[in-house]
Amino acid sequence: MNVRYWPVVLGDVLVTCVSVIFAAVLCVDEASLRLVIPFLVAAVVLRPLGLAVAGVYGRLWRYSTRSDFAALFGGVAGGTVVLLLVAGYVLKPVWGPTFTPAPVVAEGFINLALVLIFRFFLRGAEHYEGDVNWRKTGLVTGRKGLIVGAGGAGVRACMEIRENRHLGLSVAAFLDDDPSKIGRKLRGLPVYGPTIRLGDVVKSLGIDEVIIAIPRAPEQTVMNIEALCHEIPVPFRTIPSLRDFLETPPEVARSTLKLPMSMPDITAQEIEEVVRVMQSRNLSIGVRTVEFERLIADVAQARHAIAVTNGTSALHLCMIASGVGPGDEVITSPFSFVASANCILFERATPVFIDIDPVTLNLDPAKLEAAVTERTKAIVVVHVFGQPVDMDPVMAIAERHNLTVIEDACEAIGAGYRGRPVGAIGKAGTFAFYPNKQMTTGEGAALVTNDEDWAYLFRSLRNQGRDKFDGWLNHSRLGYNYRMSELNAAVGVVQLRRLDEMLKKRDDVANAYARALSDIEEASPLQMVPTTTRMSWFVYVVRLGAGISRDRVITLMETKGIPTRPYFSPIHLQSFYRRQFGYEPGAFPQAEAAGGSIVALPFHTNMKAEEIDVVCRALKDVISEIRREMNR
Ligand SMILES: Cc1ncc(COP(=O)(O)O)c(C=O)c1O
Repeated sequence: MNVRYWPVVLGDVLVTCVSVIFAAVLCVDEASLRLVIPFLVAAVVLRPLGLAVAGVYGRLWRYSTRSDFAALFGGVAGGTVVLLLVAGYVLKPVWGPTFTPAPVVAEGFINLALVLIFRFFLRGAEHYEGDVNWRKTGLVTGRKGLIVGAGGAGVRACMEIRENRHLGLSVAAFLDDDPSKIGRKLRGLPVYGPTIRLGDVVKSLGIDEVIIAIPRAPEQTVMNIEALCHEIPVPFRTIPSLRDFLETPPEVARSTLKLPMSMPDITAQEIEEVVRVMQSRNLSIGVRTVEFERLIADVAQARHAIAVTNGTSALHLCMIASGVGPGDEVITSPFSFVASANCILFERATPVFIDIDPVTLNLDPAKLEAAVTERTKAIVVVHVFGQPVDMDPVMAIAERHNLTVIEDACEAIGAGYRGRPVGAIGKAGTFAFYPNKQMTTGEGAALVTNDEDWAYLFRSLRNQGRDKFDGWLNHSRLGYNYRMSELNAAVGVVQLRRLDEMLKKRDDVANAYARALSDIEEASPLQMVPTTTRMSWFVYVVRLGAGISRDRVITLMETKGIPTRPYFSPIHLQSFYRRQFGYEPGAFPQAEAAGGSIVALPFHTNMKAEEIDVVCRALKDVISEIRREMNR
């Protein structure tokens, strides 16, 4: 039982003792008083038990409603009935005429009165850590509220709002994702759900304000709901986690704009598909994974697609299939996510970096051939931010030197190079589906290849090294558990069906950004090159003008409630790579210049024009402020 209920239980035990003694003193003679002791013990056990069964202890007394009181009365009355029965059928035959049931009834009433008095005192004394100081959160008055979260924090928020009438806010309903709560009543109010239906509920109930009361939920979940509120749009307040609440100064807590950095585009369809998988009880290696792989193969126009757990594991399998090992070299880009190079280290080979093209930010094919040595086994090209690498010269060099080309297309699903989709231009390619990507499966990734043997090997490696006809506990080679679950695949199937629509929307958002940024000289968007026949926007980055401190931009944007990220810190300058390979700044000037001046702005599929406008205005102000600081 939750520790905070213990005072309630102990208090009730005490009250019960007192009331039973009272009753006994009232109605039985002194000699019989000693006989009351076992009865008292029974009452001490039975009464709290009755109350516990009635659910009284499971609730917060401070916020008791009429139904709580009904439960309380029921518990006490029920306990009295039980005592009466025990007294009539057990105690009376034992004790004879000295015992009358009257004391038990009297005890019941006295107990009830004392429990209520006890509650009255308790009410003043109780204090919960999660209590919200509504004045501090700046809640506006006179409005109809919807509470997101039908858990402890949501109920507390509801009761706090009801108790503080001066707020002028009335709670109309709760919204939650928990199927056991949806459709029920809580504190007399309906619980709707899932949270993805926020827009419908706000509209149908005429909600003026949303109170997000899920302080223990992951940050991303809260951000998603906040983003939905922006989209509707409806004003919202987020009940902060206790730590944030104490640490955040009121100015920041009152910020009217909280944009998410990224947000997966999840509709009711994805949720329904996940529910269907759960209902099917087939959670791994099932029809969804097969369908997911078929759709991925279509996107990449590849013969085979293999679903795995994440982009890092997909790249790892590519390294194994390429046969790289200790002493081998693999050429890649220093301007990427660290997994692009880590996968080489997993197989104890050596990553060899070449500098990037400052326009596309991709590995520069003109520098490729000079980096090839006798030990070079493979090239990992990375289609950074969704813009394809210039593949023709890469493939030509690879052919000349008999090298395997792996495409790290983790950021580029659906991107087109000279009319061909990326992924299977080289020997194999990887797509990743973390929630900030163009499409998501939660966690997850897929490999694509046109090579039958490689596809077979990938399937075996991801499944603990089992061959097709191996039994469950037979393993033909060293393998891994890199299998994607059916739940992830189910989300992926819906997302893939929506991929074209989502990429189109992302294109629109990127175009809107480009227009809004056109009058900010010192923030240049990424340039498209003619070989990019289809851009697949992963993040939206801008390159800051010379002398503008990227880190200062990030800090100042944050104070305006707008998150931004430094994309990327070059891999060769990560402390681990510096320690292991002795890299120093200056090794790859273009990658380092990009790393120091590029910043990613909030970007997602459903971003609204007004939000883009707010971001760009803020960026403009921040850059002017930094220029002023520099001139001082
Ligand atoms: C270029 C690139 N490669 C590999 C990965 C690794 O993918 P995951 O995070 O799914 O392991 C990422 C992830 O963001 C990436 O951007």
